[in-house]
Amino acid sequence: MASSQSTLSPLFSAPPATSLQIAPTTSSDEESAYIDWDNLGFQLMQTDYMYVTKCSDDGIFRQGQLNRYGNIQLSPSAGVLNYGQGLFEGTKAYRREDGRVFLFRPEQNAIRMQIGAERMCMPSPSTDQFVEAVKQTALANKRWIPPFGKGALYIRPLLIGSGPILGFAPAPEYTFLVYACPVGNYFKQGTAPLNLYVEEDVHRASRGGAGGVKSITNYAPVLKAMKNAKANGYSDVLYVDAVNKKYIEEVSSCNIFLVKGNVLSTPIAKGTILEGITRKSIIDIALDLGYTVEERLIEVDELFSADEVFCTGTAVGVAPVGSITYKGQRIEYKISSDQLCKQFYSRLVGIQRGVIKDERNWIVEIE
Ligand code: COI
Repeated sequence: MASSQSTLSPLFSAPPATSLQIAPTTSSDEESAYIDWDNLGFQLMQTDYMYVTKCSDDGIFRQGQLNRYGNIQLSPSAGVLNYGQGLFEGTKAYRREDGRVFLFRPEQNAIRMQIGAERMCMPSPSTDQFVEAVKQTALANKRWIPPFGKGALYIRPLLIGSGPILGFAPAPEYTFLVYACPVGNYFKQGTAPLNLYVEEDVHRASRGGAGGVKSITNYAPVLKAMKNAKANGYSDVLYVDAVNKKYIEEVSSCNIFLVKGNVLSTPIAKGTILEGITRKSIIDIALDLGYTVEERLIEVDELFSADEVFCTGTAVGVAPVGSITYKGQRIEYKISSDQLCKQFYSRLVGIQRGVIKDERNWIVEIE
């Protein structure tokens, strides 16, 4: 499909292709992009198309269109550039062994974007519009979807205040845009267990803030803490609550779970924690498998007695934690093949790949 614009929807427009990894537009739909599929990480690659739509005063997004992937024009006074009025989402398209392509719970991303938009005073696309945009983006970039078992097409919906505004107020126009990129492991170390650092001075979220929604403003403020931790050899940072500095919240890029016996615990999402879709799915999987799940306040000290700790996220997947460093003390976790997180992960992947029955209708085929 990405090959011939005439076979695409009439909504396609084709400004000049941008450079870099865009493969020739004359290649066939089935031709895969020129990528080393065995060594995918989480780096940006320009794919073929992105979906774009706008809305203004009426708050209703018009029918969108697929444009060639490339730069977008924004006024220097766009709301998103000046006041950070923006949200993003992340979801993935997977290719199965028989070539069919599936999304995982995309309507959950749509709902989360709607909740975030309400918090950030933005209009949002309807669930159907959102899911349709994600499907169209995946299909238009089909040749960038990794072969079965090699990774996924990471799909990034954005909702931004694109209209110009000088005084502090909601933007007069909004853009909903979806682009995509093939990805493998999120962390540079691949699937090796994560080494986390508990940060006590920099907080990701505070009560009444926007930590519970996927606002773009939640990310840059923790870059420094994350960069420092990485410079010291850690994989990522685990943040604690801003009031008591006593309860764990989440990692820069993912949620966190503790295992103790048959009980799975994760920080309760009450405005300072992003309700991850993988988090939600792992909770359901654990309950289905007969484990007890607790969403509650978790003291940092509980990390010392946990049997197992793992992280979840769309980008990250399900990642075991090998160590956590807190106040200079390194807590080590035993990594073994019979860890619960591996059991949960293989069930999740089994559902995504179609080898385990999708009893909760999580999977959406896109063709
Ligand atoms: C995701 O998991 O989709 C995220 O948005 C995390 C991001 C920091 C890559």
